[in-house]
Amino acid sequence: MELIIASNYDEMSRLAADKIALCLKDKPECVLGLATGSTPIGLYAQLVEDFQNGKISFARATTFNLDEYRGLDPQHNQSYRYFMQKNLFDHVDVELEKTHVPDGANSDAQAACDAYEKGIEEAGGIDLQLLGLGHNGHIGFNEPDDSFPVGTHVVDLTESTINANSRLFDSIDEVPRQAYTMGVGTIMKARSILVVASGADKAQIVRDAFFGPVTPQVPASVLQLHPDVTVIVDAEAGSLCA
Ligand code: GLP
Repeated sequence: MELIIASNYDEMSRLAADKIALCLKDKPECVLGLATGSTPIGLYAQLVEDFQNGKISFARATTFNLDEYRGLDPQHNQSYRYFMQKNLFDHVDVELEKTHVPDGANSDAQAACDAYEKGIEEAGGIDLQLLGLGHNGHIGFNEPDDSFPVGTHVVDLTESTINANSRLFDSIDEVPRQAYTMGVGTIMKARSILVVASGADKAQIVRDAFFGPVTPQVPASVLQLHPDVTVIVDAEAGSLCA
């Protein structure tokens, strides 16, 4: 694992965007695993800028997002599909049909999960998976548990995640209680992994996840076992690792 402590959020975003840009240049038909949350917003803005400056193209790339709320329509302004359109897809040359987000509106949960997992395999697997970090160490929506979930599945969100994400909804009652997420096994199959974290409130979990014991109670800790992981944090999030 490589840990890079950037001086601030902008530098973290620039360095992380550079890794994705490099992947697109080395392998224009690459498969990118993408993430939502507030942390990657800056890096998506950098990628849009790089595209506008003619430095990168998504024309041949395929994308798979980590997760999606269950029961939210893709048009809902808090759905992860909406987030991706607004922050990246609408501004670059990616082909819409090559962008994938679990279908939160599909009432057949098993079918939705199986189709998603199959889609990733058929695309040849993920070359570079981007991840944010939940305060309890969740990756995607893989919450602390007694074991690591393997494939794409439905999860009941924990109180901590519902509270953390309620800031984005009009009221906490509107936050969906379930979500679809790639499993830890799906994530670990990615050929390389890029984790971003920013802010003092992530300092403890960055230390626990990357320097503490590997345990399903801190899902991100499993990344210590992956052969190609880069963690890019800002100075605040990296303050307990320096
Ligand atoms: C959500 C998402 C995760 C994300 C996490 C952290 O729960 N499902 O994929 O990494 O929140 O989000 P933020 O970057 O806003 O702290």
